[in-house]
Amino acid sequence: MSDKIKVILDCDTGSDDAVAICTALLSPEKLDVLGICTVNGNRPVPNTTENTLRVKDLLGSDVPVIRGCYCPMVKSLDPRREVLETAHSAKGEDGKEITYHAEYLDCLPPSHSKPLPMHAVTWLIDTLMNSEEKITVVPVGPLTNIAMALRLEPRIAEHIEQFVIMGGGHLERNSTAAAEFNIWVDPEAAQIVFESGVKIVLMPLDATHRAYLTPEDSKYFRSLGTKLGDFIAQEIDDRVEAYNLLQPLHIPDIAPMHDALCVAYLLDPSVITDIRHVRVDVDFSGGLCDGETVVDTRLIPPVKPKNCYLCMNTDSDKFASMLRDILSRAKN
Ligand code: BDR
Ligand code: CA
Repeated sequence: MSDKIKVILDCDTGSDDAVAICTALLSPEKLDVLGICTVNGNRPVPNTTENTLRVKDLLGSDVPVIRGCYCPMVKSLDPRREVLETAHSAKGEDGKEITYHAEYLDCLPPSHSKPLPMHAVTWLIDTLMNSEEKITVVPVGPLTNIAMALRLEPRIAEHIEQFVIMGGGHLERNSTAAAEFNIWVDPEAAQIVFESGVKIVLMPLDATHRAYLTPEDSKYFRSLGTKLGDFIAQEIDDRVEAYNLLQPLHIPDIAPMHDALCVAYLLDPSVITDIRHVRVDVDFSGGLCDGETVVDTRLIPPVKPKNCYLCMNTDSDKFASMLRDILSRAKN
């Protein structure tokens, strides 16, 4: 048995997903990444799959990429639930589109590798059921693939070491006043995962808004003179611009790298400075709070068992220094 952590990533790549993937694939001494599933989220699944393949090619990795679900489990049956309050993009002064996640990661060339010829949900079930060691699953997009796999084969839960999920927000939210994007896209799927009985470490916005890189980091990455360094610098610059315009945060000129915090936590849990064992459920009733992660902070004995280790704060300096170190390992 190897002492590396066996990991499956589930991504809607996406700029910060791309940074998470790079961080994981450049940490082979600690992480054995078995595969990367893709899902609808930041962009439709053909785009998130192509983007994932571009990142894999950039790193010269042979990790399998497996295309997953095209739409949320049931949410899209109710058209009243499809209103996104916050803009995902806007036109800058020069007419250029400013967005968190471009249609494609267009500073990377089109992919030359292919996804596996099977569905991510089937692959997840096969891989988990046939693994002798438990596997850590890291979903950093909407939870559709994971919930579908749990519904098709609930016994996969016994083969999962833990979920480390980017999603939700307790005091901070983004897609609506109540909800964070990944949970808001597929609230029913999220609730299925929260009820799975598997250990969950949840990275909500409260922690991930403190997991950021800055224009200084961008300069550093550009100075490396590598393709990966240029790519990371570009993603930082684009995200700084997008956050300043579309979603100003507690500090200006920062690029939160939400999804990369899940990987950083696996590599060094001390990057999280406040973690609480609580009950979290998702509102999927379709109203004002659709997609909210409802955290039970009451001190009375919980009615339902505690199901999440909720990460509420991040050591921002440690996070940035980990990413600087790991992402400068690429040879080209
Ligand atoms: C989450 O939503 C996506 O836009 C990001 O990739 C991240 O996973 C943050 O709310
Ligand atoms: Ca994501």
